[in-house]
Amino acid sequence: MDFLKIEGGKKLSGKVKISGAKNAALPLIASTILAKNSVEISNLPDVKDIRTLLNLLEILGAKYSFEKNRAIIDTNTINSTTAIYDIVRTMRASILVLGPLLVRFGHCEVSLPGGCAIGQRPIDLHLKALESMGASIEIKNGYVITKAKNGLKGAHIIFDKVTVTGTENIVMAAALAKGETTIVNAAKEPEVVQLCEVLKSAGVEIKGIGTDEIKIKGTEGELLCFDDIKVIPDRIEAGTYLCAGAITNSEITVKDVEPFHMDAIITKLIQMGYDLDVKKREITIKSAQKIKPVEIITSEYPGFPTDMQAQFMALALKAEGVSIIEERLFENRFMHVSELMRFGANIHLKGNTATVNGPTELFGTDVMATDLRASSALVLAGLTAKGTTKVHRIYHLDRGYEALEKKLKILGADIERLKE
Ligand code: UD1
Repeated sequence: MDFLKIEGGKKLSGKVKISGAKNAALPLIASTILAKNSVEISNLPDVKDIRTLLNLLEILGAKYSFEKNRAIIDTNTINSTTAIYDIVRTMRASILVLGPLLVRFGHCEVSLPGGCAIGQRPIDLHLKALESMGASIEIKNGYVITKAKNGLKGAHIIFDKVTVTGTENIVMAAALAKGETTIVNAAKEPEVVQLCEVLKSAGVEIKGIGTDEIKIKGTEGELLCFDDIKVIPDRIEAGTYLCAGAITNSEITVKDVEPFHMDAIITKLIQMGYDLDVKKREITIKSAQKIKPVEIITSEYPGFPTDMQAQFMALALKAEGVSIIEERLFENRFMHVSELMRFGANIHLKGNTATVNGPTELFGTDVMATDLRASSALVLAGLTAKGTTKVHRIYHLDRGYEALEKKLKILGADIERLKE
């Protein structure tokens, strides 16, 4: 197993290129199940989760090539509709094949994703919505077995909670269903928007893209003709590198980004006293005279993303005063707290709120990555801590950050990947 060794305290400088968004790429790859043509997707981040989903499609019988951040996927050879446990257990987002497989083939079997490090994460909303579109659903031997004998029909769906992959699954199912589907309380994340835009240009009538009410007129089973797709920039990766600049109080630039998607992140950094230069495709963060404490409540887009909560907690350790961070989306997304304490952090947890008392002097230590974004918070703390930090179990990081240590090295960090 690999680990990262970081010698903290180095100032960073220069520019780093941001990859395509993993969370946009995953539903786009799943959506190729609805295609009649081979689909080319570029700006795909070369990370484990992307390879896992491509592998799942291959197990289903699809063919693909993937090199230099570009994949060509042909799903016309799919001859199985079973998403096996071995894949789904490594990546919950495998659930994204449920909607497209069901609507294209009339049935499918997807291993039920279990809980995960950040909470229970049920898929009940996906299933209820598919039921209202005419699917029958049974849970047997750990699998969700879905059938739509007479095909899926448009329905009026009101999500009890805003769900990103839930919205994506239903948008994909609705794309080939009979009649019109309305999704009320839909997710508005840029990744959902890109999926809708892609399906629209592939021939599906979709209204309300980017709002909380999406209307989709299905093609009644007619497969879609996709254009080439370029994945949008990863706002969470970009935010993480801005935090790397911020926590080391250095001037760095993230390039190939979409600042419009990063409003909540940019606003919080400004509130913390950083000066940001925001251009069309790049953002430069400059050092702060005084790092101010921050109040954060995670919420759905366009609110502050839960996927940036851990990184801002690491940053709050350097702020002069008390920061309050409230996690509203996932019940157990504070696994990084006990690891940050190993650096010397002073954090109090009560329910879903963390109180961070800063500034603290951090000292290098051995820490364990617990989930994808929590791991990046540990790397950030390591960049500013005195002495050596070793971040273990970095397979979590490899799920979502392309070439993390290479990119940080370009910025001047003293970081290397070693074997345990
Ligand atoms: C997606 C992102 C993840 C991000 C999250 C929230 C992908 C691949 N992953 O995850 O990085 O942290 O959005 O922005 O895009 N819920 C239910 N029942 C359901 C579905 C969800 O109760 O059927 C709850 C969840 O437990 C959670 C909330 O709804 O409390 C939001 O979850 P959701 O938006 O579905 O997260 P994901 O789509 O899994």
